[in-house]
Amino acid sequence: MAGLKKRRLGKTGLMVSELGLGAMDTPHSPEAEATVSAALDLGIDFIDSAREYAGSEHLLGQVIRQRGGKDFHIASKTFSHSINGSQYDIDHSLRVLGVEFIDLYQLHDISTMEAWEAVMREDGALAGLQVAQYRGLIGHIGISCHSNEVLREAITSGAFDTVMLEYSAFFTETAPLIELAAEHDVGVIVMRPLGGSGRTSTMRGRIADGYDGPLTPANLLRYVLSNPGVSVAIPGASYPSRIQENAATASGYEPMDEAERASLEREAARFYHD
Ligand SMILES: NC(=O)c1ccc[n+]([C@@H]2O[C@H](COP(=O)([O-])OP(=O)(O)OC[C@H]3O[C@@H](n4cnc5c(N)ncnc54)[C@H](OP(=O)(O)O)[C@@H]3O)[C@@H](O)[C@H]2O)c1
Repeated sequence: MAGLKKRRLGKTGLMVSELGLGAMDTPHSPEAEATVSAALDLGIDFIDSAREYAGSEHLLGQVIRQRGGKDFHIASKTFSHSINGSQYDIDHSLRVLGVEFIDLYQLHDISTMEAWEAVMREDGALAGLQVAQYRGLIGHIGISCHSNEVLREAITSGAFDTVMLEYSAFFTETAPLIELAAEHDVGVIVMRPLGGSGRTSTMRGRIADGYDGPLTPANLLRYVLSNPGVSVAIPGASYPSRIQENAATASGYEPMDEAERASLEREAARFYHD
């Protein structure tokens, strides 16, 4: 199996494996530690967490201790909108992870204009992240968001090194924002690249029942990675076998052409109508 390719994470300048891991649900698995270890052993070096993902930072901290140090990039997030709250969360993340530095810290789910205005105030959460960056506690600043309006503001504001957005064959409306981010050298982290846990569970059931069409986790991952504006896709996973499958896909895939992309989008749109 060829190794995982690396991409530049926008103006952070970090080179990260284009296949990352979203560690939102991983801690709930009986194979949580083995899943994270499998990811790291296969060359995944970007793992997304958050204060709000119960047990996720604890799990990463455990793995770091087991491995005798941190040999991957960590991204975490704060739900706070205030300057004090975001700094408190960073201090908490550092303690739980057992590290002195977090590569990327993001504002979590800033998905309304009210939330955007709150975090951008002089006493808002962005200012707290900037203080922590000045203190050398975090390397880079990002934002995760489910609103295209806020994403556009964030990308063009110059205040963020990365944006985390949803993008998949099920959810294509952020494609123009991925292009905009590339123009502004803002790194793009793709959440829910396989369409989310509900859809993947149904997909696995259909495949077990004999479905042999193109709508598979492997093709969904190929779809996202075929977009050159994406810096890193972070599928969630609870088992080492998922990591192995995704790493195999990402190590040897042919990028999709326009016709194949359009065909997968049509199949994804039909998903709930069959
Ligand atoms: N900032 C935000 O507001 C926000 C919101 C949502 C997500 N996120 C981030 O994005 C990450 C990914 O999102 P997500 O987990 O909701 O959606 P996703 O990555 O699209 O889908 C995850 C699901 O896909 C399954 N899966 C993974 N690889 C598979 C494979 N090879 N074959 C079959 N099934 C496979 C996983 O199953 P198992 O769990 O059973 O292994 C899991 O249920 C999260 O972990 C989080 O870091 C951020």
